[in-house]
Amino acid sequence: MTSISVTPQLSHGQLLNILNEQYGLVGELSDLPSYIDLNRKLTTADGKQLVVKIANIHQSADDLAFENLVINRLSQESSIELQVPSLISAKSGDDLIEIKDEQNQSCLMRVIAFLDGKIWAETDTSQLSFVESLGESLAQIDKTLATIEHPAAHRYLKWDIRHSNIIVRKYKSYIQNEVLDNTEENQTGGTKINLINQALQSYEAQVLPLYEELPSQIIYNDANDYNLLVNEEKQQVCGLFDFGDMVSSFRIAEIAIASAYAIMNKTNAEEIIGAMVQAYHQVNPLKPVEIKVLLPMIKMRLAVSLSLSSYQYSQSPENDYLLISQQGAWKALSQLDQIDAISFELKLMWLTELNSKQELEQPQDIIDYRKKHLSENLSLAYDEPLKIVAGRGAYLYNEKGTRYLDMVNNVCHVGHCHPGVVAAGQRQMSTLNTNTRYLHDNIVRFAEKLLSTMPKELSVCMFVNSGSEANELALRLARKYTNRKAMVVVEGAYHGNANACIDISPYKFDGPGGDGAPDWIKQTLVPDPYRGKYRGRNEETGLQYGKDVKRAIEALAQEDQPLCAFICESIQGVGGQVIHPPGYLKSAYAHVRDAGGVCIADEVQVGMGRVGTHWWAFQTQDVVPDIVTIGKPLGNGHPLAAVVTTQEIADSFVTGMEYFNTFGGNPVSCAIGCAVIDAVEQGGLMAHALQLGEYLQQGLRQLQSKFPVIGDVRGLGMFIGAEFVKDRDTLEPAVEQIDYVIERLKSEGILLTTEGPFHNVLKIKPPLAFSKQDADFFLSSLEMILTEQGAQP
Ligand SMILES: Cc1ncc(COP(=O)(O)O)c(C=O)c1O
Repeated sequence: MTSISVTPQLSHGQLLNILNEQYGLVGELSDLPSYIDLNRKLTTADGKQLVVKIANIHQSADDLAFENLVINRLSQESSIELQVPSLISAKSGDDLIEIKDEQNQSCLMRVIAFLDGKIWAETDTSQLSFVESLGESLAQIDKTLATIEHPAAHRYLKWDIRHSNIIVRKYKSYIQNEVLDNTEENQTGGTKINLINQALQSYEAQVLPLYEELPSQIIYNDANDYNLLVNEEKQQVCGLFDFGDMVSSFRIAEIAIASAYAIMNKTNAEEIIGAMVQAYHQVNPLKPVEIKVLLPMIKMRLAVSLSLSSYQYSQSPENDYLLISQQGAWKALSQLDQIDAISFELKLMWLTELNSKQELEQPQDIIDYRKKHLSENLSLAYDEPLKIVAGRGAYLYNEKGTRYLDMVNNVCHVGHCHPGVVAAGQRQMSTLNTNTRYLHDNIVRFAEKLLSTMPKELSVCMFVNSGSEANELALRLARKYTNRKAMVVVEGAYHGNANACIDISPYKFDGPGGDGAPDWIKQTLVPDPYRGKYRGRNEETGLQYGKDVKRAIEALAQEDQPLCAFICESIQGVGGQVIHPPGYLKSAYAHVRDAGGVCIADEVQVGMGRVGTHWWAFQTQDVVPDIVTIGKPLGNGHPLAAVVTTQEIADSFVTGMEYFNTFGGNPVSCAIGCAVIDAVEQGGLMAHALQLGEYLQQGLRQLQSKFPVIGDVRGLGMFIGAEFVKDRDTLEPAVEQIDYVIERLKSEGILLTTEGPFHNVLKIKPPLAFSKQDADFFLSSLEMILTEQGAQP
């Protein structure tokens, strides 16, 4: 029994006869490659070149009619500059005819004009103008395709991106799970299957939910390097053929597919894709949702190619070419894996100007509006202020997609937009938000979690909305408990923006616009072992500064003002990232308690595990305060703050006057607070803060040994300061130098600010999502900048 071949069987002679009879064509035939069809080139006597295409025996007439319809429409369309093949009609007037092959099987035949030119795969197309022309051409094609409808366009194709995740899930097991080459594009050293799984995961998480929103139409669906003709000299696409993969699918897949091929064996994937998208968009405007899915879609197209070719290799292991041709795709996928997805999306939104439609204001408009309609007291960071539109982990992004490493935001403690925290907030926000006058589990859960991080003496919490409110409430508690008012505060300290907080903040009352200290306030020396009155990080210095607290208490007593409380940050933040010398708080607290006062630890900046060894910085001084105030990191950016105190002090506050706080302790805030504590615990972020903080300090100390402008490096965990001085003996603050460094770091993509009474301390307190790679980037950038003229003392 002879087997029936899917590919039509016809000798050159038989085919020439058919061509003569049906088309009146004579000439010479030569072979052309095809997977399962029969393709031949006919050169006619007058030198014309034609392609004779006889489809495999299973090919449906509908599909070919669809192709023919599109080919005819594209070749008639005057706006399309690209050559597309034109169909040659048979004598009958049909452009698709049925013939019999030598096994008497019916098959469908077409004759198409041969397009002359070099195929993309065989040309050097390294210039961006090539991908621009590719983007433009595909946009022209898609504009015409959008006007066509045909039932065959709604067929099932393996190469339709809409089925890509199913295809990859089915065939990825054929991929040999090797470690990727350690090439420039692949610095992660991951395995092939990891890369595929990541592509699959991001596609399913980010693209699948948007399927309904993505514009769909008929697309060419196969802009690969063997289907395009290129004018190498002009670096332009000049022709397109093989319409066999057309399908009604997502329009953006057109660009995703072309991008997957355009970036192969290139190292500037982002630039290439940007140029193509911009050019496409100018002709055929895209929608923001299409930009959003593009990166995961390109990765997925590569994953489909790799999965299917691995499957083919498993079926024909002798075909080494399949594996060789995979190499470019693996490199491309590795390169895409290194791209920051948020930055990529924002850059494309900027290039296509799609963001300006979404965002109402340009930076200067915002500045002008702020000046006129928001208080002029609002300050802005940097000479040229930044417009920040997105955040993730330790990074912030401006409206143009430029990524900045955020080394200053201790508020977004566990990382900008931490997924667990965001989800907890969203979940609770869509369920209920009320106040503490109803029973709710969240407030109890949150209190339990928070108290579990505290020494057992501190057993009562009250929830508020800001650090200022927490300190204001702490003052009320202290006053009720002691029936006194007088306070000792640390020089240069800041405790908040409410009236009562300004009264206890030398940074404010002694600063510009301040009214000086109220008469019930005495200041104690900032316990600074580097430039303070007593120097050296040792017990003796700690005791001396402790004694100064006693001195301030006595000064109050002399004015007949018995001490109510001593408020002190557990590390001085605004005061200049000052780490207390050992024994300082122990000594200070002893004097305060001897005088009948209470000790308030302001942990608003420094708390929540940032110091690495403990949840709270006061614990590094081996003391237990009477009242602790917590703010910034507690809600990871959500307005959430707390006061934690002893039972005795809390009881003294129960006077009959209700304490009601509209927002404090609401179910949403408490859900978020729980999620932040969980993120610290489950992410092992305290150990991370300790390890990486030490690494950063070590790196800074090495720079200190090279660059005299760094006078001091100090820190606990990820709360670090580097003090800049012009002279290590006089300690003259190197203000111009640090300002220069801050601006230069910004231009390198790193955000930092200064702190301290002389604004000469580099304040380092990044979100704990900060990585070792980030630390290395910062240290090497700083080293480079410190060699520059502007940083010299
Ligand atoms: C130590 C300290 N306490 C209190 C506050 C006030 O917190 P908030 O701005 O949340 O009111 C701040 C704010 O910077 C602070 O640094």
